[in-house]
Amino acid sequence: MSPLHVTRTLPEDATDAALRADVLSGLTDHPKTLPPKWFYDAVGSELFERITELPEYYPTRAEREILADRSGEIAAASGARTLVELGSGSSEKTRFLIDALTPLRSYVPVDVSESALTQAGRALIEERPGLDVHALIADFTAPLELPATPGPRLVAFLGGTIGNLLPAEREKFLAAVRALLAPGDGLLLGTDLVKDEGTLVRAYDDAAGVTAAFNRNVLAVVNRELGADFDPAAFDHVALWDAEREWIEMRLRSRTAQTVKVPALDLAVHFAAGEDLRTEVSAKFRREGVSAELAAAGLELTHWWTDAGGRFALSLSVAR
Ligand SMILES: C[S@@+](CC[C@H](N)C(=O)[O-])C[C@H]1O[C@@H](n2cnc3c(N)ncnc32)[C@H](O)[C@@H]1O
Repeated sequence: MSPLHVTRTLPEDATDAALRADVLSGLTDHPKTLPPKWFYDAVGSELFERITELPEYYPTRAEREILADRSGEIAAASGARTLVELGSGSSEKTRFLIDALTPLRSYVPVDVSESALTQAGRALIEERPGLDVHALIADFTAPLELPATPGPRLVAFLGGTIGNLLPAEREKFLAAVRALLAPGDGLLLGTDLVKDEGTLVRAYDDAAGVTAAFNRNVLAVVNRELGADFDPAAFDHVALWDAEREWIEMRLRSRTAQTVKVPALDLAVHFAAGEDLRTEVSAKFRREGVSAELAAAGLELTHWWTDAGGRFALSLSVAR
């Protein structure tokens, strides 16, 4: 069995510095925001795995259905010897691809969550002894340095995670992904599709309250890392559909007027009763929009697959 290679491209204190910068700018902004990457400490990563199993959360099942049905076609079109996966989390659905890609030599999962990455990486090297697994603890919105592994390369970005980036961030991100690819290399992109409001809102506001716990977990992260005194129970979980921008917003709504202290930043943040803190945007897509955004980055959409219910799409595009 090859050993699990783990590379931390973030210096040990970079996460801390990045969290401080994000919390300072986000909590002093109007409206207040926090970026979604801070959900994913070990507790948040576990909660996300529970979300993927909820009856209301269709995206994971829909994307798994496509991967189960289409991995052979994806593998034939790509022929990749290296699979890089951004925001890989548990790498659970990725196994369909890994098994179908017969020339595959190296798998490079990239995630900010060290716990999810090492757990998934250890399981994979046991299950697939011939596979070289090179886990990268890194922020996929920052410049990435990939290990020297054999081409062709396929970059997978699954789970609809691209929807968590705002349009300008997506443009920058797709250009950076294109820069990681040689002509002929591919991008496999999972995008959740625009659909009726009820289905969308329920997917982000489940009856069992798991998504609410996931949302509030970001406050626990800020408390632990920066000594803040957020009372997570003093905030309501809110999921809203913005029909104009075609995205879901997750927010934490202050139940009362309150002041939260963040000692590491020497900051006191006032929340009015009913004031929202936006914690995640999850954009929903249409084929034309995906194709245009890819083309703007120098990627040509060659395949488009959806689940039988037409809820979620996987696209394959090629670097030109
Ligand atoms: C919505 S989950 C999707 C997980 C998995 N790909 C799936 O489809 O089930 C997003 C994943 O991306 C990771 N993530 C979020 N923001 C990130 C960032 N800026 N850089 C690297 N990983 C990030 C999270 O830790 C999490 O594992």
